[in-house]
Amino acid sequence: MSDYKIVLLKGDGIGPEIVNQAVKVLDKTAEKFGFTVEYDEALLGGCAIDATGVPLPDETVEKCKKADSVLLGAVGGPKWDTQPGNNRPEAGLLGIRGALGLFANLRPAVIFEPLKGASPIKDEIIGGALDIMIVRELTGGIYFGEKGRKEVNGNPAAYDTEMYSVPEIERIARVAFDLAMKRNKKLTSVDKANVLESSRLWRETVIRISKEYPEVELNHLYVDNCAMQLVINPGQFDVIVTSNIFGDILSDEASMISGSIGMLASASLSEGKSGLYEPIHGSAPDIAGLGVANPLATILSVAMMLRYSLDQPKAADAIENAVSTVLKEYRTPDIYAEGTKKVSTDEMGDLVCNAI
Ligand code: IPM
Ligand code: MG
Repeated sequence: MSDYKIVLLKGDGIGPEIVNQAVKVLDKTAEKFGFTVEYDEALLGGCAIDATGVPLPDETVEKCKKADSVLLGAVGGPKWDTQPGNNRPEAGLLGIRGALGLFANLRPAVIFEPLKGASPIKDEIIGGALDIMIVRELTGGIYFGEKGRKEVNGNPAAYDTEMYSVPEIERIARVAFDLAMKRNKKLTSVDKANVLESSRLWRETVIRISKEYPEVELNHLYVDNCAMQLVINPGQFDVIVTSNIFGDILSDEASMISGSIGMLASASLSEGKSGLYEPIHGSAPDIAGLGVANPLATILSVAMMLRYSLDQPKAADAIENAVSTVLKEYRTPDIYAEGTKKVSTDEMGDLVCNAI
């Protein structure tokens, strides 16, 4: 029997309440599929600033390094907006990505059949189904490059540097090609190679790695064109691989095609097996504590954890199927539609448990 150690980073805003639902669901799958889960909690983000003065205490990094996997709620809120840039809750998030070497961020954009009407994109454009996997490089590029302030011609100026090394591009490309092999064998690499030198190196490197994957059909899009293609013909995409900043922007866009940001999960993976799993939405401080937050993205993040880190694919399938079943009848307010029953955060967690 497998025994997993999971660290919970509940974070801020709605973080604690949605993570609590995901824990209920993970416990239910453990009971059903015959494994055990042991939890530990650690601080990240605003709650860590309040308790320790910094958004990412060393203790949090240590605990996460020893865990089989990490589940994160969300971080941030207006309370910490006045913190200096390097001490904001978001800096804690970037810090943990860097400290754990989580270079590969998987962001699936899928439409759940019962929620099709929620997409702002017309049915005939979406076509049959939407199932895109965005693979975003997460520990390099402009997010982690040299940055600073200086003076230019007597005026204050600021700069951030976009830089990628060949090994950084190679490893993210391989993650994307491997995923494409397990899906529909189509990979779109997104860059701005008509302007940026770092993008030209990105493209050359992805083309070289593609020789290891002769079965995968590779194409390249400039990021501006990709942003447009996502809206006019999202069905053309299978796997998309791109840099940190382009992936940040395109994954928000792709998530809106699915109509409900409260539904989408993500995985951040390192070279090893353990990873960090989190919903792609934020901490929604305006609705924190009201019992109306949608816990499904966090619950679906647990499904990704079971699939990618814990080798429990059947348990992952069970969660995803349970979510689809529950959605036919029950909705949290953010995805409510006439003819369905409105339920609270807690009720939604219970319904998913019962459907497993
Ligand atoms: C995301 C978020 C973060 C990012 C912020 C909160 C630092 O937008 O995970 O997409 O830009 O990576
Ligand atoms: Mg983002």
